[in-house]
Amino acid sequence: MPHTVTLIPGDGIGPEITEAVVRVIEATGADIQWDRRDAGVSAIERHNTPIPPETLESIRATRVALKGPLTTPVGVGFRSINVALRKEFDLYANVRPAKTLVPGGRYQDVDIVLIRENTEGLYSGVEHYVGIGGDPRAAAESVMLVTRFGVDRILRYAFEYAVQHGRKKVTLAHKANILKYTQGLFLDVGREMAKEYAGRVEFEDRIIDAAAMMLVMDPAKFDVIVCENMFGDILSDLIAGLVGGLGLAPGANIGKDASIFEAVHGSAPDIAGKGVANPLALLTAGVMMLEHLGMRDEGARIRKAFTATVLEKDSLTPDLGGTGTTSSIADAVIRRL
Ligand code: NAI
Ligand code: MG
Repeated sequence: MPHTVTLIPGDGIGPEITEAVVRVIEATGADIQWDRRDAGVSAIERHNTPIPPETLESIRATRVALKGPLTTPVGVGFRSINVALRKEFDLYANVRPAKTLVPGGRYQDVDIVLIRENTEGLYSGVEHYVGIGGDPRAAAESVMLVTRFGVDRILRYAFEYAVQHGRKKVTLAHKANILKYTQGLFLDVGREMAKEYAGRVEFEDRIIDAAAMMLVMDPAKFDVIVCENMFGDILSDLIAGLVGGLGLAPGANIGKDASIFEAVHGSAPDIAGKGVANPLALLTAGVMMLEHLGMRDEGARIRKAFTATVLEKDSLTPDLGGTGTTSSIADAVIRRL
C-alpha cells in the first residue's frame, strides 16, 4: 500500500522547488501517493482563505505533509499561516538539523540537531499592554507559559530522538538561573528524565547565552539540543549559519497526530518564477519525511546522491555560488541515485 502524503506547493518559489523534490523522491521508487493541496496566498483566489478546510482535512487523514513556503498575507486575520498550522495540529516539536554539507565554511564537521518546543514558552501568545495613569501603553507584558505537560513531552521527544537516531548526548539549554520557575521547571523535568536514559544518552545542561557562545566557538561539543520556544527560534538560526545558511536548512514540525516537513526559508518572491531557487533545503526536509515514514533506504540514497552533488560547485544554484538551476540540480541528484 502506498503512503499518501499531503503535498502543499505553496507560494513564490514553492511550486518550483516542490516539483524538483517530488521528482527526486519519485526517482528513488518510494511508494508515495501525493495529495496536492492549496495553502497560502495562492489559495486565496480559489478558496477565499489561505488555509482551505480541504487542506486541513487532507493533513488530518494522511498525517504527514511536505510543504513549500507560504507567504503570509497581510490583513486576513492570520498572524502567520505557519503558526496557524502548528496550532491546528499541535505540532509541538520543531526539529532542525544542521549538518555540514558544503565544505569551505568555518567548521568542517558540524552535526547538530536542535529540538525546539513549538507551542508554549515565550511564544504562547499571552501578551498585553498595561495602562498606567493616562497612558494605555505605559507597559507591556508577555507571559512565558511553561506547563509540566509541555516540557515533559518535548524532553521525552528529545531523548527518544537521540536513542532512535544513535545520538550520544542531549544538551538542555535554559535560563533557570534567572527564570527560576519557568526555566527551573524545564530543567528539573529534564534532569529527572535523564536518569531514565542513563547509560544510553548522556545529558548536560547549559545556560542559553553560554551555549550560544560555545556553539560558535566549538560546535563539536553539541549533539542534540533541546530548549524552550524562543530560545530554540534563535539558536536554530544560529546553527543554520554554522553550516552555510538558509539554502540547506530543513525543518520538521512534529505532533502526535500529524507532522509537517518544510524548508526553513520563505517564499523568496524576489526570485520566484526564475527557475533558480535552491531546492536542497526542501529536499533535505523530504529526506526527513521519508525517514519518518520508515523509508530509510530511499532517504539514505538521496542523502548520498545529494552529498556528492553539493561537492560540485557548478551544479549548485546561485545562492550557493553555482550556475545551476532548480531543475538541473534535481537532475544532478537523480543521476547519482
Ligand atoms: P525568504 O526566506 O523568502 O527570503 C530571504 C532571502 O533568501 C531572499 O533573498 C531569497 O531570495 C533568498 N532565498 C530564500 N530561499 C531560497 C532558496 N530556496 N533558494 C535561493 N534563495 C533563497 O524570507 P523573506 O523574504 O523574509 O520572506 C518572504 C515570504 O516568505 C514572507 O511572506 C514570509 O512570511 C514567508 N515565509 C514563510 C516561511 C514558511 O512558509 N515556512 C518561512 C519564512 C518566511
Ligand atoms: Mg525563526
